[in-house]
Amino acid sequence: MAEKIAVVTGSNKGIGYAIVKGLCERFQGKVYLTARDVTRGNEAVQKLNDLGFQPLFHQLDINDQTSIDKFKEHITKEHGGIDILVNNAAIAFKQDAKEPFGQQAEETIAVNYFSLLRVCNSLIPILKQNGRVVNVSSSAGHLSRIPSEDLRQKLGDKSLPIDLLSALMKKFVSDAKAGKHIERGWGNSAYVVSKVGCSALSFIQQRMLDNEKPCRNISVNAVHPGYVDTDMTSHKGHLTIEEGASAPLHLALDDHGLKEKYVWHDKTVIDWYGETPAIY
Ligand SMILES: NC(=O)c1ccc[n+]([C@@H]2O[C@H](COP(=O)([O-])OP(=O)(O)OC[C@H]3O[C@@H](n4cnc5c(N)ncnc54)[C@H](OP(=O)(O)O)[C@@H]3O)[C@@H](O)[C@H]2O)c1
Repeated sequence: MAEKIAVVTGSNKGIGYAIVKGLCERFQGKVYLTARDVTRGNEAVQKLNDLGFQPLFHQLDINDQTSIDKFKEHITKEHGGIDILVNNAAIAFKQDAKEPFGQQAEETIAVNYFSLLRVCNSLIPILKQNGRVVNVSSSAGHLSRIPSEDLRQKLGDKSLPIDLLSALMKKFVSDAKAGKHIERGWGNSAYVVSKVGCSALSFIQQRMLDNEKPCRNISVNAVHPGYVDTDMTSHKGHLTIEEGASAPLHLALDDHGLKEKYVWHDKTVIDWYGETPAIY
């Protein structure tokens, strides 16, 4: 039997690092810690080595197609494919960020939606039979976080194709640049729109993979890891990174049969189309 391979994006720190650690503890296979910065990546690997774990490292900048192509080539040549892909890398501007909102919208959607899509377009084709994709979304990625009923209907349309979802993400950026995002019903958070895009993308991907022939029985789920003590939250989150990794690891490893689901940090399945869940 070929060895199994797990990959976590943006895993030099925070929740991604803890997901790699948990995979090293529980996954019967090789685990790739990836980072856009080689020094930060190697330092994280060293920390895990000191704890007795042996993850592999490869550079991976999700904003850079050349970096993704090199990583894909490496994985294909060395291992033939991937069994578990955890899309964790993302950014969030701080509440007091000085950049104009239009710029925040453009950069946040570029990384959290379009770079996620770019990684998926490259790496989903090399997922193996029964592969799993875990897209790290957020409580902010629940559909109800979008104020406009009309936009919620569009984003939650089960026949929405990826190119129209991408067009909606671009529309948000152009509305934000024109200062019209609130009157057009997007709300005032670029992070919310990007993470709703991440959740919506996960469900479209699942429906596409269910229809592929031959079918690889791949699962795609979106997860809210909880409010976690990381750089992203300026260390205000009340969960440890290990606690934040718990639901992503559940989706990556446990025998649950979940597909096309939005999963909360306590591992319960939440109706993405329904009532607003708790804030955290
Ligand atoms: N923390 C929370 O409470 C919370 C709540 C809900 C959802 N989330 C989600 O959980 C995930 C992890 O968040 P976190 O709190 O652990 O954040 P974090 O501490 O800021 O870590 C983010 C990671 O993503 C990496 N990254 C950013 N841009 C990248 C790129 N272009 N290519 C590759 N890696 C990149 C960062 O690398 P660098 O070190 O090089 O910047 C870092 O390793 C994110 O998807 C986040 O939206 C977090």
